[in-house]
Amino acid sequence: MASEESRKFDVVIIGAGAAGLMCAIEAGRRGRKVLLLEKAEKCGKKILISGGGRCNFTNLFAAPDKFISDNPHFCKSALSQYTQSDFIALVEKHRVAYHEKKLGQLFCDGSASEIVALLETECAAHGVIIWRGSGADKVEKEDDHFLIATGGQVLSAKSLVVATGGLSIPKIGANDFAYRVAKAFGLALVPARPGLAPLTFEAADKKRFARLTGISADVSIGYEKTRFRENLLFTHRGLSGPAILQISSFWELGKPITIDFLPDIDLEHILKEKRQPQPRTKVSSYLKDHLASRLVDVLLEEFVDLPELGNCSDKTIREIVKSIKLVKLVPVGTEGYAKAEVTVGGVSTEVLHSKTMECRSVPGLFFIGEAVDVTGFLGGYNFQWAWSSGYVAGQYA
Ligand code: FDA
Repeated sequence: MASEESRKFDVVIIGAGAAGLMCAIEAGRRGRKVLLLEKAEKCGKKILISGGGRCNFTNLFAAPDKFISDNPHFCKSALSQYTQSDFIALVEKHRVAYHEKKLGQLFCDGSASEIVALLETECAAHGVIIWRGSGADKVEKEDDHFLIATGGQVLSAKSLVVATGGLSIPKIGANDFAYRVAKAFGLALVPARPGLAPLTFEAADKKRFARLTGISADVSIGYEKTRFRENLLFTHRGLSGPAILQISSFWELGKPITIDFLPDIDLEHILKEKRQPQPRTKVSSYLKDHLASRLVDVLLEEFVDLPELGNCSDKTIREIVKSIKLVKLVPVGTEGYAKAEVTVGGVSTEVLHSKTMECRSVPGLFFIGEAVDVTGFLGGYNFQWAWSSGYVAGQYA
């Protein structure tokens, strides 16, 4: 058992994911005695599996409008105090090679492990103590300090940072620790739900899509006023791919999503124009020049006899266009936390100072990263939130 003095810290950070590691580096840089507690045997397990093993570590276009929260303004302060350029500078300092894949998404050329290595190197350079395989069991506040129970001993800290993430991917240890701590301190939570997750459908739709398993299409997808232009993938369980993952973070049970399978084409205009010069052309053969043949068959299956263009009335053309460009589907759910890349909701931003991530009602207690009700779009935004929120807490913890 360690001596009493060795169990006293200025800052204890619970969770060595992206946010916790960044916070530890910054608090260490300020000369604070920092302990980073990590339940798993290694740090940054989610970083390691992210971006298909190459970690999409930030996005060139990171900005507040790429985040979902009950308070869309909350993320502004942290994002402006530590920007994507700041993290890119850190990546370059450690000579980690990277590239832009698309839409401003920056990935490692090599492996996500380089990001974890650079964060651990920075932690070591700033004297951060890391206990791996040491989960926090319980925390409480006594006078002006926090008591943290871990593995049979009790640690003390002037500041406590909760960086234990959300509920996504329980298989690698995700859990509700942050929410339990928030509840214990009487802090409000925004109900959590899976985000960036594949969508599931009722039996009839599922059967329809199963025939298309493996087909992808560049679509424009909408839910209420939100729209994304990305790839959609048919799977034997439902719909996936970036377009679906993005819209899933907004979608609410019982409501429809709409899909435009030919977003760049004014189909009504084109079909009407072709009617005269190409009256014998089948509508389906024009569509099959632009979309996978099986997909066209499924989308147009309600048209028993698809006429040649010359025989299409304006009304028929409008109906065909609707079947391709305004496909309305009502998902029945998502594939849940087992498949969701993030958790939407979490510790309410109402209880936190946006400049510091410190709790308004509990001085010295901070929540950062995915544990908080700030969720990024797909594309490196969630890590940017982890870096930014971790950075600011590290300046004040
Ligand atoms: P994170 O979950 O990373 O870390 C929390 C840590 O706390 C974990 O190490 C956990 O073991 C630890 N912990 C939990 N309870 C504890 C306890 N009681 N005591 C001690 N430790 C405890 N984002 C992005 O921007 N680009 C990308 O490429 C991807 N790709 C991606 C792929 C997949 C498959 C997933 C699941 C997610 C992504 N993400 C992503 C999302 C991104 O990984 C996520 O938003 C961040 O990792 C969140 O960082 P945090 O540090 O907040 O939590």
